[in-house]
Amino acid sequence: MIEKFIFGDPVETYAVCENLPVSEGTLPYFKNENNTKFTLMLDEEDIVYGLGEQVRGINKRGWKYRACNSDNPNHQEDTTSLYGAHNFFIVSGRRLFGAFFDYAGIIDYDIGFTHRDTMTVTTEDGNICVYIISGESEKDIVKQFRKMIGQSYVAPKWAFGFGQSRWGYKSEEDIRTVASEYKKRGIPLDSIYLDIDYMERFKDFTINGEAFPDFEKLVADLKNDGIHLVPIIDAGVKIEDGYSVYEEGVKNNFFCKDENGKDFVGAVWPGKVHFPDFLKSETREWFGDKYAFLIDKGIEGFWNDMNEPAIFYCEDRLESVMKRVNELSEQNMGIDEFFEFTGLVEGISNNIDDYDKFYHDIDGKKVPHRKVHNLYGYNMMRSAGEAFGRISPDKRILMFSRSSYIGSHRYGGIWQGDNKSWWSHILMNLQLMPSLNMAGFLYTGADTGGFNADATEDLMLRWLQLSVFTPLMRNHSALGTREQELYRFDNCSDCKNIIEIRYGLIPYIYSEYMKAVLKDEMMFYPISFDFRDDEDARNVEDQLFLGNEIMIAPIYKQNARGRYVYLPEEMKMVRMRSLSDYETETLQKGHHYVRAELNELVFFIRKGKAIPIGDSAENTSKLDASWIKLIGYDNATYELYDDDGYSTACNLNENIRVIGK
Ligand code: GLC
Repeated sequence: MIEKFIFGDPVETYAVCENLPVSEGTLPYFKNENNTKFTLMLDEEDIVYGLGEQVRGINKRGWKYRACNSDNPNHQEDTTSLYGAHNFFIVSGRRLFGAFFDYAGIIDYDIGFTHRDTMTVTTEDGNICVYIISGESEKDIVKQFRKMIGQSYVAPKWAFGFGQSRWGYKSEEDIRTVASEYKKRGIPLDSIYLDIDYMERFKDFTINGEAFPDFEKLVADLKNDGIHLVPIIDAGVKIEDGYSVYEEGVKNNFFCKDENGKDFVGAVWPGKVHFPDFLKSETREWFGDKYAFLIDKGIEGFWNDMNEPAIFYCEDRLESVMKRVNELSEQNMGIDEFFEFTGLVEGISNNIDDYDKFYHDIDGKKVPHRKVHNLYGYNMMRSAGEAFGRISPDKRILMFSRSSYIGSHRYGGIWQGDNKSWWSHILMNLQLMPSLNMAGFLYTGADTGGFNADATEDLMLRWLQLSVFTPLMRNHSALGTREQELYRFDNCSDCKNIIEIRYGLIPYIYSEYMKAVLKDEMMFYPISFDFRDDEDARNVEDQLFLGNEIMIAPIYKQNARGRYVYLPEEMKMVRMRSLSDYETETLQKGHHYVRAELNELVFFIRKGKAIPIGDSAENTSKLDASWIKLIGYDNATYELYDDDGYSTACNLNENIRVIGK
């Protein structure tokens, strides 16, 4: 059952697709102070699941979080905001309920940070719509919620292959080299990503003709080899006379405005830019149609970036900071001046106060960005997603974004932003999977190997052993970091084996993903969701169920040659060195120390279950679906979903068959 409560006059987010009646009663569970602060007392045993893309554990208790989409390439334990705002959570203990605080602006959560037994949710202005969902289990609550927010985005099957990316591929030659190095070693590959350097001076919907003299041929040649090129699209549009996207945007009032009604100026990669006003339907349509420029050249996938939006600086702040810095530079800076100086410089980028300086036009109403901040990336996704429906109605287009809000899960996937080559970020990657699935984001994964900082071979191997299961499996790294294409490492054949295992598992991963999409379910979920009454299961923070069949428990500590795993029921442990070299062993319910060498992928098949596994191939288009066997418990069957992998129309019942009978 879902109850809807409206306080004040909230901005319509379009997160929810169903038209529910507004409840006449009072909001249950929470004490409401002025519609801005909602307080919930927590029992010692309550677990708080959810909040989508956030730091810390599966259980969100013990920290404060802020839903304020942020470009934060430095996220750590004390971070409070990441790239997405996903205001849905479940409280599970004596009481069990879900809550969705549908709010376009910035919202703060204190979940036992100030007082261990108190949770507060604080909005900036008290105009909010709250949904309370009751159900018999966490899964039931999620399913009701997901049905209410609409079906998740369906990615093409090729997007389940392995992808190679790096910020720093600058030319056709760089791209062809990546493709041939993978091919030479026989490592499967389905996509290569084009970061900002494919563009002419970082201008959206342009191609740097010098570095990519025959872009269409490059796209076609790679596609012949089964490899898709996936270009990046950034939110900011470069201010440059003669650049048609800029000129059309200015002429038609498609950009966000400043206080005086002039096009607001910020700066990102291209230098000074205007930000498309994605909250305006005309802008969405116009910008979305621009993707045809690349689709016409054979492109079938995109990643949307910098859409929190990231702002390196805006003009007036830069000016005032420069002025003050000049004054300070003439002084002998003491402690106060020095901290003022560093604070000023650090505060230039992504400053929340700048969100008051520009405006959107929502159905003719001038709305300050701050009030709708968390909807910006969402509407960039919507702009693209709706355009794909027009440009390519029958064929799926890959799209994932950095910034998001609940609702944008209908238009695309998300990647987990600029992580680091840190062991703790492997764990974070795992912990984000269920909370993102709760919020509807099923096509997701992190930058495998880490974006910032230098990756080591062992970190890459362990990370691959997690990414092998995530829908998006992409190796991506930042300019200036150690190169981490798999062929850079000494024991490249170990990496190759894991990628081949991934291809062997695609029938299962794709099937579970599609079932989760079509049934409004989670693909990855905490162990406790199936074992509510098992105290040990409720404490598990580093294992997940995938579908109904698999439990994953990756290693995320350096030099560890094993780890403790909790089995809430008997399971079959699978230890794989390659698709043809593996063994299984039945382990009883309980705590186990499980050894796993660097080249061993260990996972678990649940009691009485089996999973399909196929052979590997150069890429997904060459996978042979007729060659699938089951591994796991004898006599177990599996419901396999499969389809052509590219049609937008997909029907659950028509595409499911039971195998193993
Ligand atoms: C942002 C993106 C990152 C990309 C970089 C350059 O930091 O998050 O993935 O490589 O911009 O475009």
